[in-house]
Amino acid sequence: MSGYSFITSGVPRQPGESKWKYNIRKSFTIKSLASVDDDAKNSTLNKELGVFDLLMIGLGGIIGSGIFVLTGEVAGTKAGPAVVISFILAGITASFSALSYSELASMIPVSGSTYTYAYATMGELVAWIIGWDLTLEYLVGASAVAVGWSGYFVYLFSDGFNIEFSNSWTSAPITYNNTLGKFEIVPGAYFNVPAFVIVILLTILLIIGIKESSRVNTMVVSVKLIVLTIFCIAAGIYVDPKNYSPFIPPNEGSFSQFGFTGVLAGTSVVFFAFIGFDSISTTSQEARNPQRDIPIAIMSSFGIVTVFYISVCLVLTGVVNYKLFANDPAPLSIAAKETGMQWLGIFVDIGAICGLISVILVLLMGQPRIFLAMANDGLFFPKLASKIHPRFKTPYITTAVCGLLCATIAALFPISILAELTSVGTLLAFFIVNIGVIILRFTAPDAPRKFRVPGGPFLFPLMGALLDLLLLVTSSKASIERLFIWMAIGLLIYGLYGRNHSKANNFNKIKFNNVGIDVMEMENIDDIIKTSKN
Ligand code: ALA
Repeated sequence: MSGYSFITSGVPRQPGESKWKYNIRKSFTIKSLASVDDDAKNSTLNKELGVFDLLMIGLGGIIGSGIFVLTGEVAGTKAGPAVVISFILAGITASFSALSYSELASMIPVSGSTYTYAYATMGELVAWIIGWDLTLEYLVGASAVAVGWSGYFVYLFSDGFNIEFSNSWTSAPITYNNTLGKFEIVPGAYFNVPAFVIVILLTILLIIGIKESSRVNTMVVSVKLIVLTIFCIAAGIYVDPKNYSPFIPPNEGSFSQFGFTGVLAGTSVVFFAFIGFDSISTTSQEARNPQRDIPIAIMSSFGIVTVFYISVCLVLTGVVNYKLFANDPAPLSIAAKETGMQWLGIFVDIGAICGLISVILVLLMGQPRIFLAMANDGLFFPKLASKIHPRFKTPYITTAVCGLLCATIAALFPISILAELTSVGTLLAFFIVNIGVIILRFTAPDAPRKFRVPGGPFLFPLMGALLDLLLLVTSSKASIERLFIWMAIGLLIYGLYGRNHSKANNFNKIKFNNVGIDVMEMENIDDIIKTSKN
């Protein structure tokens, strides 16, 4: 029988529509919720994760260098004891996004997370931009935490066993000179070996399986929660209220040096501490009951970490005068030592090492799953990203490639550059998610949602989007520039590859009587039908 069939769905070129207009319209093609639902049903990933595993993935991804490293820096150089206010403000900002993630994950339970939410609300181009942007949160974020881990590793060996590692092989050979505005080589530093090795080991674990990775994660998360609880109780006895005064130290001249502006500057820095809850949504296709369990896991992990963060900040700044924390990478160890309990110091170091391992693991788990979702839509190289290991049932090729890239970045760059880049990338993703909730409330008002952000679309999602934007534009100029450069590279790949292979827009591949014809050369659908009849 003569006839034509579209290889994929989509909207063909309209009569008289110019190629330019057609191409621009294609870039905003929206992926229907029904097709997202099909993707979830056809997934070959193992559905192994229950609500407890998801909660542990959340806690694993959130509690890391933010509390173990950055608390001290912010208390010592920006906010004093009011670091707790910085944490509360950052927590409020991130909580709006956590609510939005919960609503979207309950509607669209696929591994693509923010990328898929954007595809279903703002169209292909925005989805691509966000999918590409998420590499900053997951891949670069994991590198940042690996560098922090390396610091604690060196600290533990030096403190606990008197073993000193050479600086040449434990620190970054590249740095950024803020005054001159350029990258520089650090003399005598070659490669951060511990940071490289920890990422490679965790990559191997991630290839072996989601359940195995989740088991290791549960173990290390339990250790860090126990350590933080014991720290708060044991050191809490030594809190001296005198250390809380002045609670907000007076401003020392420049914008971010103490005072109210110091507290605000501290908020942008400790925002990093709340990043990670969204990685729960990248395991949606491996969850047994994602619509119900993912919102529960996101909200409960968020609540638990907030309680921990506030308690740790109050104990830290109550035990030690905030000035002692300036420029020290291990504030909890300092406070523990101040109490005279040597065992607590070592205990805290071990807790930090475990804590940071789980963050790297969870962030690295997210990245290949985003690429998988993009590859399934034809936007990213399927031969690389869609391959699921026949035995381990994990996206092993991208896990390996991302792991190697992450390890190399961690071995070459310092934490400050990487953490800032992670924060700007994440803020952009959170902004899109908040906007996505608002859009879907209008475009799909009746779609089933097992969780709804309370107060309607214009309360928390809008406030979340505005606060994300505020923190984004007040980030450092250099990291905003890097964000733009990264996005430009992404757009180039979309233009050269994604756009031409997108399944939702694949109108240049249409079959007539089983012969492929390039439809892009034709005026409109009527021409195609005419051609098929000739
Ligand atoms: N929230 C994570 C951390 O603090 C990224 O390390």
